[in-house]
Amino acid sequence: MLKNMSEDSAIAQPEFADTALSEDFSEDCSKALSENSEAGESSANQPFFHVPVLADLVIEGLQIKPNGHYLDATVGGAGHAQLILQAAPDVTLVALDQDLQALAAAKSRLAEYGDRVSFCHTNFSNYAVKSRPFDGILADIGVSSTQLDQADRGFSFRAEAPLDMRMDSTQALTAAEIVNHWDEKTLADMIYAYGEDRLSRRIARQIVEKRPFHTTTELAGAIAHAYPAKARHGRIHPATRSFQALRIAVNHELDVLEQLLAKAPDWLNPGGRLAIISFHSLEDRIVKYAFRGDDRLQIVTKKPLVATREEIRENKRSRSAKLRIAERHLPMKPMP
Ligand SMILES: C[S@@+](CC[C@H](N)C(=O)[O-])C[C@H]1O[C@@H](n2cnc3c(N)ncnc32)[C@H](O)[C@@H]1O
Repeated sequence: MLKNMSEDSAIAQPEFADTALSEDFSEDCSKALSENSEAGESSANQPFFHVPVLADLVIEGLQIKPNGHYLDATVGGAGHAQLILQAAPDVTLVALDQDLQALAAAKSRLAEYGDRVSFCHTNFSNYAVKSRPFDGILADIGVSSTQLDQADRGFSFRAEAPLDMRMDSTQALTAAEIVNHWDEKTLADMIYAYGEDRLSRRIARQIVEKRPFHTTTELAGAIAHAYPAKARHGRIHPATRSFQALRIAVNHELDVLEQLLAKAPDWLNPGGRLAIISFHSLEDRIVKYAFRGDDRLQIVTKKPLVATREEIRENKRSRSAKLRIAERHLPMKPMP
């Protein structure tokens, strides 16, 4: 994604499939999940709580049908997944997540649906359909509120924590690796491209001068110092954009989204729908142009669907959510 990276940035290449779990691309990875449940449960003793955004629009947009087969590519706290399973009789669902802890929580929340749900620990970009295609696919991308709120995972600069930011804790690349080892130009390009911060060069210089960093709060303090004193106390914290950029880089978020959009139309039955929820303009732009340029798909939502004022009042996170839906073309009728 970053075009001008130096050779050192080879470290930014995806390295998801480095565990036995991620290599198991079978439809049902439940066995692998239970074998690794310790990893899923040990990192925090916090309940996994996430309010699904744009829930009615997602369920209506996917046109869930009885006996339908669906993919939730980002099951998280299983809010959307549960609504999909409840929307029509005898629905079956494959649930993916790259976060073992999220998957363990989803498994427990969806236990009542028994073998109508199968779980798979994988990055959605590595997923491959082994059996029948889907009638609908949902990807509610990015991090969940739970991941953001778990201080020890290092997504937030508001709590002191190791510089981690991995959604998949089995992945090798962490925020510490990027901050402490990438060269100045690559850091600046990353902060500019993924955080859209105009002070990216000054921030990268500060980082290189002051490193090594061990914690989120140390890093946030150094980033704040790259800002002119007057601008340090604005509406948003000076580290906000750089932390977003780091999270995107650690998890290769834009690259994996592009890979999903390239593959997912082939996972659908004709007439099946692909629904993507994104949370910032970089992602929404990727979805918009991928849908437009894909002759396997017909766009259902000309403009992205967004939350009502009421939903925003109840769930602030829905403020920036954008839902786009496209439908797999029906097969062409043979010429008479
Ligand atoms: C916004 S939450 C989804 C919440 C869910 N829709 C619900 O109702 O609870 C996003 C989830 O997707 C997972 N995720 C993000 N990117 C992923 C990817 N590339 N592959 C697999 N899972 C991913 C995260 O770990 C997180 O649990």
